[in-house]
Amino acid sequence: MKNLLTMENVSNEEIEAILKRAAEFEAGAKPQLERDYLVANLFFEPSTRTKTSFETAERRLGTTVIPFEAGFSSTLKGETLYDTVKTLESIGMDAVVIRHKKDAYYEELLEGINLSVINAGDGAGQHPSQSMLDLYTIFKEFGKFEGLNVTIAGDVSHSRVAKSNITALRRFGANVNIVCPPEWQGKYTDAHHEWDDLIETSDVIMLLRVQHERDAAYEGFTTEGYHKQYGLTVEREQQMKDGAIIMHPAPVNRGVEIDSSLVECDRSRIFKQVHNGVFVRMAIVETILKERN
Ligand code: CP
Repeated sequence: MKNLLTMENVSNEEIEAILKRAAEFEAGAKPQLERDYLVANLFFEPSTRTKTSFETAERRLGTTVIPFEAGFSSTLKGETLYDTVKTLESIGMDAVVIRHKKDAYYEELLEGINLSVINAGDGAGQHPSQSMLDLYTIFKEFGKFEGLNVTIAGDVSHSRVAKSNITALRRFGANVNIVCPPEWQGKYTDAHHEWDDLIETSDVIMLLRVQHERDAAYEGFTTEGYHKQYGLTVEREQQMKDGAIIMHPAPVNRGVEIDSSLVECDRSRIFKQVHNGVFVRMAIVETILKERN
């Protein structure tokens, strides 16, 4: 694996190897990098968890993390993403982690760039490291994917997390259902527009953030109306089956996609997902850097 760009171009075997290595890191395994590597995190969109989680993972692996502040970089003077990345490669970077508002920004880096690129989110495209930490969280909970009922609720059309997870979970044999307003179903024409019986039958309910920065609101949208019709309310949580869990990639709009009191309830794995993300990102970065030897 030279790069990690989308869940579509990673095999099930590669994903399983990442999840296994993440479990080893969680159990205290030492990194297996044989030289010093230089990495940089290029975040052209805001991030709390992905950026700090990657940086923590990179430091725990013993790599040298070179600071990069998108808001003070020469991109503000018109430099292209290609030229920024080629510049970092010329300085000696082995890998860059990139978040960018443009869908599939990485396509312009496929020719002529030799360092490794890890996609930390492209527009409304994909978020593969989030998907892998979600898979890790689900597997730790249930020990399998096959036959699990996973319901993904919310702004699917703008959600890179949803797209990556739907791809991966269906490939691993989970029954993935989608609940969302018709305006947000995007290419998922099999989406439900009511919860129907999905609250009672789901093993995992994964909520998505309403993405106001991508102009997600449709005509008639109100946060109160959305919460009532599509959010995880206290009443809905009480109908979930024994052992079922709540997930959300976060950041959370409390009181919109989920009642604020449920964010840290017994079923919630929201902060556990964040915790797991460091081990998964250690596994991703180590796997990619080892291939560069
Ligand atoms: N889940 C996620 O990508 O969060 P950040 O935007 O804070 O990185």
